[in-house]
Amino acid sequence: MLEKLPIYIYFFSGTGNTFLIASKIHETFEKNGYESYLKTIRNKEKAFFPEKCHIGLVFPVAMQSSFPIVWDFIHNLPEGLGRKVFMADSMQIFSGGIVGPMKESLISKGYKCIGAKEFKMSNSMLTSQKKFPSEISKNDKAVKEAEFYTLNLINEKTKWIKIPVFSDLMKSFSSDRKIWTSFSKKIKVDNDLCIKCGLCEKICPTSSVKIKNVVEIDYSFCISCMRCLNYCPKNAFIFGNKKIIQNKTVKINSIL
Ligand SMILES: Cc1cc2nc3c(=O)[nH]c(=O)nc-3n(C[C@H](O)[C@H](O)[C@H](O)COP(=O)(O)O)c2cc1C
Repeated sequence: MLEKLPIYIYFFSGTGNTFLIASKIHETFEKNGYESYLKTIRNKEKAFFPEKCHIGLVFPVAMQSSFPIVWDFIHNLPEGLGRKVFMADSMQIFSGGIVGPMKESLISKGYKCIGAKEFKMSNSMLTSQKKFPSEISKNDKAVKEAEFYTLNLINEKTKWIKIPVFSDLMKSFSSDRKIWTSFSKKIKVDNDLCIKCGLCEKICPTSSVKIKNVVEIDYSFCISCMRCLNYCPKNAFIFGNKKIIQNKTVKINSIL
């Protein structure tokens, strides 16, 4: 059985899916008598945790890897000193094998990788355009799987398998900042709808959105996490000239 040390779970969530997984893992640890802390990954913030604890990392798949904000956080983690770490990612279809490069980075820092699990979400911002809001489910299946995964972590029945070569190629492809910039340039604002309430500026995880005379997006820092599109009260953001159906599975304050 997993030693009863405090569990520090760090998550990043653009639009709420990953929060659903991270909070279920947190809740399941607590139900099973572990002291668990759920913490958000924030841009340029480093993690602090005690020497004796286990670490959880929960993040979305993006571009067959994860967002730069997640990788920066991983690279800035303190030395592992043999602490046990587990990961979980939320995705739409296919992760490109991100568990592999993630494992390598953590081992090189001295962490012991005990389990990795990928969760397919029925609800994704990029597909929701094709669905009517009534068809968007609540990701119940993935959340149930997160509970089961946590019980397996507790019972030390999990694995962290690496898919070689391919996953490293995907990681190096998505490490190129130009990929993110060209993708994020599809995000635009309909200034006729915008009421300059300032929410997008407040919730942008990389401070790339600024309210000036009109809303301005600094594409050189934007990571296309879709938070602004998802939470704009006037639905004033556009992606690739299309309106995206908002997918508010969780309240914004839960993921900030
Ligand atoms: C910019 C971007 C890139 C994505 N790339 C992938 C991908 O390569 N593979 C995949 O299966 N899902 C991909 N997705 C879907 C997300 O992984 C999925 O919707 C995830 O659950 C979002 O988590 P969040 O709501 O916590 O942000 C992508 C989403 C975004 C916004």
